[in-house]
Amino acid sequence: MPIKRDAAIVPSMSEVPGLDGLTIVVADDNPLSLRMAEETLAGFGARVRTAATTRDLLWTLARERAQVVLMSIGLVDEQCIEFIRHYKAASPDTLLYLLTEEDYDLVETSLDAVKAVVDDYVRKPLDVARFARMAATSLGRPRTPGTALTVVEPLVTQVKPYFLFRSQAMQRALANLQEIAASGQTVLVSGETGAGKEIVARVIHVMSPRAAGPFVPINCGAIPESLIEGELFGHEKGAFTGAHRTRKGKFESANNGTLFLDEIGDMPLNLQVRLLRVLEERKVYRVGGDAPVPINVRVIAATRVDLVKAVRDGLFREDLYYRLNVLRVHLPPLSERPEDISLLALHFLERAFAEMGRPAPYPVLSPETIYLLEHLPWKGNVRELRNVMTRVATFIPPDTRRIFPFHILPHLEEHSETPSVRAVTSGGDGIVIPAGTPLDQVESIMIKEALRETGGNRSKAAKLLGISLRTLRRKLATSPQLGQIDR
Ligand SMILES: Nc1ncnc2c1ncn2[C@@H]1O[C@H](COP(=O)(O)OP(=O)(O)OP(=O)(O)O)[C@@H](O)[C@H]1O
Ligand SMILES: [Mg+2]
Repeated sequence: MPIKRDAAIVPSMSEVPGLDGLTIVVADDNPLSLRMAEETLAGFGARVRTAATTRDLLWTLARERAQVVLMSIGLVDEQCIEFIRHYKAASPDTLLYLLTEEDYDLVETSLDAVKAVVDDYVRKPLDVARFARMAATSLGRPRTPGTALTVVEPLVTQVKPYFLFRSQAMQRALANLQEIAASGQTVLVSGETGAGKEIVARVIHVMSPRAAGPFVPINCGAIPESLIEGELFGHEKGAFTGAHRTRKGKFESANNGTLFLDEIGDMPLNLQVRLLRVLEERKVYRVGGDAPVPINVRVIAATRVDLVKAVRDGLFREDLYYRLNVLRVHLPPLSERPEDISLLALHFLERAFAEMGRPAPYPVLSPETIYLLEHLPWKGNVRELRNVMTRVATFIPPDTRRIFPFHILPHLEEHSETPSVRAVTSGGDGIVIPAGTPLDQVESIMIKEALRETGGNRSKAAKLLGISLRTLRRKLATSPQLGQIDR
C-alpha cells in the first residue's frame, strides 16, 4: 500500500513550527527582499546569514554548515550549481530552495542541472509560515501533535480497488461504513462528480455479506429512456420488435449481490414508479412478461444532484426518495479534504508509472507542489486529480527526481465555466443568469424556476410565466433540458 511516504508530505495544519537552531543562508541580489527574508526568518528563530552575490554565497557556505539555502533564481549560474552539488554531496540533508518571482510555468526553462539539485521552488515574497512548515517536514523535525499522517482506516486498506483517505472529513463521512456494509440495507451515496461514489459503493459491497455475489452497476443517466426498462427488468422473447429471445435485466443479474443504480436522479419519473414497486415487492416483471421473478438484491444508489431539491422540483418521486434514503453516505468534495490530496496524487502517479512499466524509484512531489495541489479547486474531484497525475506521469522526463509545480501546471484542466442551467444561482429576490447564456437555456431556466416556485404546479407556473398551460406542456415535452419534468 502506498501509504507510508510522510517525508514528502506537508501537513495541512495551522500551527507553525519554529525555525529555532536552524542555520539558513539567504542569497538575493535584491537588497529589499533580502532584508525582508532575513528579518522574518530571524523572527521565527532561525540563524540567518545573507549573501548579495554568488561569491558571497560561496564564501558563506564554505565557512558554515547550513540546513537550508534559499537562493534567488537570478543568482544561479553553472559555477554555483557545481558548488552546491558538491556541498550537498558532503551534507546531503541541506535543503536548497530557489526563490522565484516568476510564475512557476516560466521557471521550467531553468537548466536541467539546476532541477537536479534543487529541493523546491518558492515564490517571492517568502511566506515564512508556509516555508517553516515545509522546512520542518522536509528536515524530519518532530511535527506538532495531531498531525499524524498515516491514518488510513485499516478496513479499507484490504479493499481493491484501493480506496484511500486520511482526512477527518472522510473519516467522519465513512465512520459507520462497516455497519452500513453489514446491514444489507439500501444505501444512498451522494457527492459531487468524481468524489468517489462508485468506489464507495464497491467498498460497501466488498465489505458486505454479499461480497461473493456480483456487483452490477447501471448508469441511469447514460441509457436512452426507451431502453432503461428492459435493461433493468429484462424482457421476454417477443416483447417488442427485435426481442428475439428472453433477456435477464440488471436486477436479475445482480441476484444475491449488489445493484448499483448510478445517477439515480436521472431516472425518468415513470420508471421511478416501477423501481419503487420492485424495491417494495422484491420481485421483477420482465417487459412483456407477467410472471413475477423473485429477486434477492441489495440496492445502492448514487446521486450527484440534490435529490431533496429534485423532489421539490417535481423531478424525483418523494416516496422513492424515502425508500432509497435508508442509509446515507455523503462524500465531501476534494477541496474540503486537502489532507487526502497528496496521498491520492502519489497513489495515482505511482499507479500510472507502474502501468507504463517505468521502474521505481518514482519521483516525489516537492512540498511546494503539494501546496499547489492542495489549493486547486478540483471541481472534478478525485477523478480530475487522477487525470492530472496520469498526464504528469506520462509526460515527465524519465530522469526527474522531484516533481515541481511547473511539471503540474501545464496538465491542469481548464475550468472554462460554460454557462449552463447549473451555473444559475437562485438568490433572495430572483435568479442570476450568466451573460452569454443561450436563449433556449434561459427559457428552460425560467420554466424550472417557475415550477420550483409553485411547487411543481403547472397551471400556476404557466400563469407566472404568462403563457397558457398548453404552451407550457408543449415546452416541457419538446425541450431536451426539460424533458424529464414531463414524465
Ligand atoms: N478515496 C479514493 N481512493 C482511491 N481512488 C479514488 C478515491 N475516490 C475516488 N477514486 C477514483 O477516482 C475516480 C472517480 O471515482 P468514482 O467513479 O467513484 O466517482 P463518482 O463519484 O462515481 O463520479 P461521477 O459522479 O462522475 O460518476 C475513480 O477512478 C476512482 O477509482
Ligand atoms: Mg460514478
